[in-house]
Amino acid sequence: MDQFIQYTPTEVVFGKETENQAGAEVKKWGGTKVLVVYGGGSAKRSGLLDRVEASLAKEGLAFEELGGVKPNPRLALAEEGVKKAVEMQADFILAVGGGSSIDTAKAVAHGAANPEEALWDIWTKKVPLTKSLPVGAVLTIPAAGSEMSDSAVLTNEAIGKKAGINTPFNRCKFAIMNPELAATLPKYQIACGVTDIMMHTMERYFIPESQCEMTDEIAEGLLRTVIKNGPKVLENPSDYNAMAEIMWCGSLSHNGLTECGRGKDFSVHKFGHALSAKYDVAHGASLAAVWGAWAKYQYDEETVLWRFARFAEKVWGITEGSDHKRATEGIERTVAFFHSLGMPTSLHELDIPNPSDEDLRALSMDATQQDTVKLSRIRKLGAQEVYEIYQ
Ligand code: NZQ
Ligand code: ZN
Repeated sequence: MDQFIQYTPTEVVFGKETENQAGAEVKKWGGTKVLVVYGGGSAKRSGLLDRVEASLAKEGLAFEELGGVKPNPRLALAEEGVKKAVEMQADFILAVGGGSSIDTAKAVAHGAANPEEALWDIWTKKVPLTKSLPVGAVLTIPAAGSEMSDSAVLTNEAIGKKAGINTPFNRCKFAIMNPELAATLPKYQIACGVTDIMMHTMERYFIPESQCEMTDEIAEGLLRTVIKNGPKVLENPSDYNAMAEIMWCGSLSHNGLTECGRGKDFSVHKFGHALSAKYDVAHGASLAAVWGAWAKYQYDEETVLWRFARFAEKVWGITEGSDHKRATEGIERTVAFFHSLGMPTSLHELDIPNPSDEDLRALSMDATQQDTVKLSRIRKLGAQEVYEIYQ
């Protein structure tokens, strides 16, 4: 077990009707003037936004709105939000939505606390981030885990780049999670979410030589829970108990708990972000499309084969055969599971039917920052190896 720091400061407010506590929560964390950030309209249509704003008004809080956040959220809208937040002298940013709204809220918070800096310079760490505004979240989709994570991801449309920033300032003060709110989700988004939740733990699991029994057991239990309940919520998004399990797994999968003692890899996410930047595909789908190829490229490396075999055994109950056999079966079962959710498991199925060689090279260069960084802690992946996996 390696050295680690575990810091998960977000207050979780979980359960039915908890969105009505949004005003009290904002007040508790010192907010008086609130910018409410939401997406393309689902929160408005369901009446959620009205309920959240009523709870802000009930506590005597002033608020304004920033709507229109798109999936794969754009820098330009976040910049608009910064302007608005500065003008209204917001002291709290409240996201109502999924990863895209929460990440935009985080970006607005960083920008509004540092209005003299360009937001993309903060994002790309050209200027250090030393202060931000407090952010809270009312979660409507179990997926990205942004409600408890230290990260946020934006797309800079002008340069076609999707990039994330990790900082303690990205931690939400509170996360309100009512599984009922996810009942209106389209099936495709549920499947993307289930995939992303699994990937956040799997990208922390396939780490060479790691011996962390407790962390492994948490990770494997989380994956089994998602595999059991994912199909249930896909079948019936109003299944409260199943959605509650998925929502809780979504937060635990990305709040740092499943990396204690070994850290993380997140190379598949780099492949996915390059795909989303170029083709604007949903995040979870981009990961499902790549993971199988990534795993087949990596699993038989000496230091990690046993982990793939353990994964097959603990997560999928595959106990027969050599490490090699169990490992490959585990990979196949995982890919088949993504498929059963309706997720793409190749670029072809991701609706990128005929990427040219040049396209694949460009993706590989983007994912590896122009071949200046090596991805993965297993086999080191430069632009050439990444290209082979995309192929
Ligand atoms: O915009 P609206 O109208 O709300 O519709 C959204 C959107 O179309 C819809 N939706 C959300 N809740 C709904 C709903 N529709 C009906 N009923 C509801 N209750 O779902 C669509 C997707 O929403 P989005 O917020 O984009 O989903 P998700 O939570 O998957 O977020 C994806 C973004 O988060 C980033 C991804 O890269 C992507 O940009 N990630 C953020 C992370 C983080 N901050 O820690 C980690 C992740 O690895 C990920 O990279
Ligand atoms: Zn993700």
